[in-house]
Amino acid sequence: MKRVAVLTSGGDAPGMNAAVRAVVKAGLARGWQMIGIMQGYVGLIANDVTPLGYRDVGGIIQQGGTILGSSRCPELRTEAGRQKAIQTLSQHSIDALVVIGGNGSQTGAYELSRMGVRVIGIGSTIDNDLVGSEMTIGVDTALNIALEAIDRLKVTASSHHRAFIVEVMGRECGYIALVAGITGGAEAVVLPGDGSLDPDALALHLHECYSLGKRHALVVVAEGAHWNGRKLASYFHEHHSDLGFEMRLTILGHVQRGGSPGAFDRLLASRLGAAAIERLAADEQGVLVGLAGGRVEATPLADVAGRTKPLDLSLVELAEILAK
Ligand code: F6P
Repeated sequence: MKRVAVLTSGGDAPGMNAAVRAVVKAGLARGWQMIGIMQGYVGLIANDVTPLGYRDVGGIIQQGGTILGSSRCPELRTEAGRQKAIQTLSQHSIDALVVIGGNGSQTGAYELSRMGVRVIGIGSTIDNDLVGSEMTIGVDTALNIALEAIDRLKVTASSHHRAFIVEVMGRECGYIALVAGITGGAEAVVLPGDGSLDPDALALHLHECYSLGKRHALVVVAEGAHWNGRKLASYFHEHHSDLGFEMRLTILGHVQRGGSPGAFDRLLASRLGAAAIERLAADEQGVLVGLAGGRVEATPLADVAGRTKPLDLSLVELAEILAK
């Protein structure tokens, strides 16, 4: 008999609930006791725990957000905070912890594993910037939400002969911007690390789109880009009021995080949740379960912590070709 705790941490992502459900059901199926930690690492430090049975995870696979609650927890970055977290685990005789979350959360998981906690990570963030999983839970749904917004903006842009700057989330990674740009048929994509972007050249490109007879133009901008949505919009208003198109700005923000998970995220979360329990049963620990070549694989948390997955350059090239 094992006692296994599960928590969700960092920015919520559609599919987190499906992952909690899979972890709990897979653990219960082995006869283990399952425990939920409320509000991520904040709850772990504050000793906020609750037993989880089949009924507690019933009817949640389709729900966005996380029934366990989530948080960002600066205290876990301190030795004292981690000691309190470990105290909670030992007070409840918890043998292992499953951490569902993104970069910061898995770095925290790694630190705990270095202090002797048996931890398994599950990659879940809309940013898709986690080393160890080619797709993380929530990315696909967040992308589809961004895409729906982009499609709608295109319609109104066409009616009014306007250009839209659409800023999407994704931190310093830019994955959402890149893929939403390609799949949304954007006229331009602005990515983080694009320090050399010349806003005047971009303005010229948009003007050419207008001259070619396009009825709208769409620029998808990553929130982490040097030329983020606000900066770019105000530069255009100041220096390029002659684009042909009237320019508008939409910042999608947290709308991208709140959706009901699509089939891809529900399946990924279910697979990764069950895999986390399988790894624990096989006496593994200190790894992140993620997707590699379509298969569920484990990567040492040491290789995941503190790193960011780079963008696929072939997709960057594709975005440039298709933006013409
Ligand atoms: O990491 C997920 C994410 O949504 C990022 O894309 C975004 O920059 C950040 O979280 C926003 O964080 P918060 O919800 O804490 O403001």
